[in-house]
Amino acid sequence: MKYAEETIQLKAIFTSLIEALELADPYTRGHSERVGTLSVSLGLELGLSTRELDILQDAGTLHDIGKIGVDSRILHKPGPLTEDEFAEIRKHPVYGYNILKPLCQQELLDITLMHHERMDGKGYPNGITDYPLLVRVLQIADVWDALSSNRPYRKAMPYGRIRRMMDSSENAFGFDPDLLDRFLALTTYIFPDDEPLHDNERRRLSPVLVGGGRTA
Ligand SMILES: [Fe+2]
Repeated sequence: MKYAEETIQLKAIFTSLIEALELADPYTRGHSERVGTLSVSLGLELGLSTRELDILQDAGTLHDIGKIGVDSRILHKPGPLTEDEFAEIRKHPVYGYNILKPLCQQELLDITLMHHERMDGKGYPNGITDYPLLVRVLQIADVWDALSSNRPYRKAMPYGRIRRMMDSSENAFGFDPDLLDRFLALTTYIFPDDEPLHDNERRRLSPVLVGGGRTA
């Protein structure tokens, strides 16, 4: 089979997987695509290659696919989680890795498995402190979009508040500090403080426009 045909078929499989995830977790609708687009925007700032940007876009849509395996009563629980429930949620990176292993290249598998790790070792599933650049890029976009979206357990936060939270001297989320600086600088003109919050159907950002003409 020709490479282009293989790629088209793979993308169709990805679309089916996302559809399944969005049925299992409606709050994911739109989130996956926005995480991909925001990751690509930061990737453009960093001068990543076209191949790396493609991986980020696909990983944005697929990184939470393992939530298919988590009990929906836990995923949709409006209140705080018990320790056991949180332990269940923490399995989704490994579930996702196992789902995607037959289909995806290693970089995308790494992102799926490691997107909740932290550079201070307080992340999961393995508590590692050293992991690939593409993982470190996507995890910042993932948290930004999660905080700026409505969830069953809390309302979306205003952009200025999210920026202050992420930019704390304690590095509250354990991100790569250099990448965090680059990302926050990017958000100041994509998401001004006084702009109304998006809902889950907000405009689709164009990575090219967001990148201000900067290309990989
Ligand atoms: Fe996740």
